[in-house]
Amino acid sequence: MLDALKDELLSLVNAAADLPALDEVRVNALGKKGRITGFMKELGGLSPDERKERGQALNALKDVIAQALDARKLDLAAAHMKARLEAERVDVTLPIRPETEGRIHPISQTMDEMIAIFAEMGFSVAEGPDIEDDFHNFTALNFPVGHPARDMHDTFYLPDAPSENGDGKKMLLRTHTSPVQVRTMLNKKPPIRIIAPGRTYRSDYDMTHTPMFHQIEGLVIDEATNMGHLKGCLVEFCRAFFDVDDLPLRFRPSFFPFTEPSAEVDIGCLRKGGELKLGNYGDWLEILGCGMVHPNVLEACGIDSTKYQGFAFGMGVERVAMLKYGIPDLRTFFEADLRWLKHYGFVPLDIPNIAHGLTR
Ligand code: PHE
Repeated sequence: MLDALKDELLSLVNAAADLPALDEVRVNALGKKGRITGFMKELGGLSPDERKERGQALNALKDVIAQALDARKLDLAAAHMKARLEAERVDVTLPIRPETEGRIHPISQTMDEMIAIFAEMGFSVAEGPDIEDDFHNFTALNFPVGHPARDMHDTFYLPDAPSENGDGKKMLLRTHTSPVQVRTMLNKKPPIRIIAPGRTYRSDYDMTHTPMFHQIEGLVIDEATNMGHLKGCLVEFCRAFFDVDDLPLRFRPSFFPFTEPSAEVDIGCLRKGGELKLGNYGDWLEILGCGMVHPNVLEACGIDSTKYQGFAFGMGVERVAMLKYGIPDLRTFFEADLRWLKHYGFVPLDIPNIAHGLTR
């Protein structure tokens, strides 16, 4: 009788077409309510001799079925894997897909490159809102009320938006990224080492000005940072960014209300036949403003100016992108012309990083 059961169970095992079906066979044979288990339960009612004989036979049957189940399981698993490998087969020798159509805008690419370089120097990225109040954009940056420097910024004011801080002044579109300096100093204790890339706005439009443009701000505050560190930082940055090892920088005295002393920085270049080449050629091109943070700014931001000092700089992103990638007209950046983007844009996988080089 057990032989008949054995044959039946073995054929069921071999007939199971997949793992769930096989498990069903196992449960029906060896599970709590399985057929072999059922016979095992009846052993208690037998005489000791009968029990011994029957018990051995049942154990042997159980082993045979368990082995058959295991073997079938391995076969099914192997067959399953084979089918899957077949189905998911990839021919790695096929040519790559046609070039992707989308492009990264040169502004995004340039900002990512700048961030990669400054990140390497230990700067972290800070952000602030595009819509600012007078305090963060001007007052805390040492622009006295009525000071002519305010007018030089061609500010866009929001007509019906009195500032939330109750100073009675209108909200505005930030005219530079310098308000992020203020926000950072108000929220963080020195040492501070941040860059702040972002959109800025001034009411101006011609070959070299658009009402919306981008800047990247830098700010370092601690107890010992001096003008030498500022110079070193910017020389290092410009040489890495423009990929010209001996690119000379010229620091020209200038004025900003929020830095003292202040400087504008020019890089060496050559203008010849409508072309512009960067390097040590004796001609100069302005690219950024910088200086040592004015004590009044530190104090307006709750930082003890007798203990702390530091530097700040602000650079136009379009400006340096135009120089680096030879883009002649600023206005084309924002015309959303797909042909322009296809020409000057970057392939999405070209993520700037120092190790692989920034340019292609
Ligand atoms: N905010 C200045 C501008 O927009 C640039 C600048 C930033 C100058 C930081 C000095 C220090 O022109």
